[in-house]
Amino acid sequence: MTDLKTELLEVALEAAARAGAFLRDGRPADLGVAATKTSAVDVVTEMDIASEKLITGFLAERRPDDGVLGEEGASTEGSSGITWVIDPIDGTVNYLYGRPEWSVSIAARQGDETLVGVVAAPLRGETYRAVLGQGAFVNDRPAHARVAPPFEQALVGTGFGYLAARRAHQADVVRELVPHVRDIRRGGSAAIDLCDVAVGRLDAYYERGLNPWDLAAGDLIAREAGALTGGRPGEVPSGELTIAAPPGLFERLQSRLEELGAWHD
Ligand code: IPD
Repeated sequence: MTDLKTELLEVALEAAARAGAFLRDGRPADLGVAATKTSAVDVVTEMDIASEKLITGFLAERRPDDGVLGEEGASTEGSSGITWVIDPIDGTVNYLYGRPEWSVSIAARQGDETLVGVVAAPLRGETYRAVLGQGAFVNDRPAHARVAPPFEQALVGTGFGYLAARRAHQADVVRELVPHVRDIRRGGSAAIDLCDVAVGRLDAYYERGLNPWDLAAGDLIAREAGALTGGRPGEVPSGELTIAAPPGLFERLQSRLEELGAWHD
């Protein structure tokens, strides 16, 4: 008999593969903005909405008793105790412009625990996955975070929210950090950034203001690859602050971000 986590992984991989292929092959050449959300730069395209519909339709067939929480509004409680947390396109602005760094992020949660996380990045030809307690993989290869470099040699990813005041403060934090690390990257998909920590393409990543759908799958993948993830000291990754980095670098970055007040606007 297939155990629960294995079944959830199979369902998540299939849902992410279907949505990823749909988005890769079906992107309209004249794709535009369908709506804006929290600000004029927080955009939704018709493909975000269609991708979420495809994923929730598939989940309803395969796991009809589960709950769902999706970026574009899907929200049902379910009765099984499992909730799917879905970002149908993480990196919508990249997708809108035809830039390759976008992903489909799907996590299965039970209470406060993420059991399974899958991030598909079709234009990288890569799918990242993790099952709680069973390690992380990129395609079929085990994923491992880097050994922590000295702070001064860390390549650090970050991202910006959509509200002007928050972005201004995030820019201030970057201005303070960038002279003291190897460099800063802003990839445009938080889920991919977390997976990049998991596969060693970034030493560390942090961002304030993420939503559960941006981080749920990538957080598990980074942890299962050996990174630490968290927020302010003693806190889990959240909208307040999400940090992912290998042990040794994590603590340095966390205390520097705390000094810089990176969790407030
Ligand atoms: C965004 C991306 C981006 C991050 C933003 C997120 P979306 O998600 O992950 O990298 O900086 O904070 O909102 O809007 O493209 O799903």
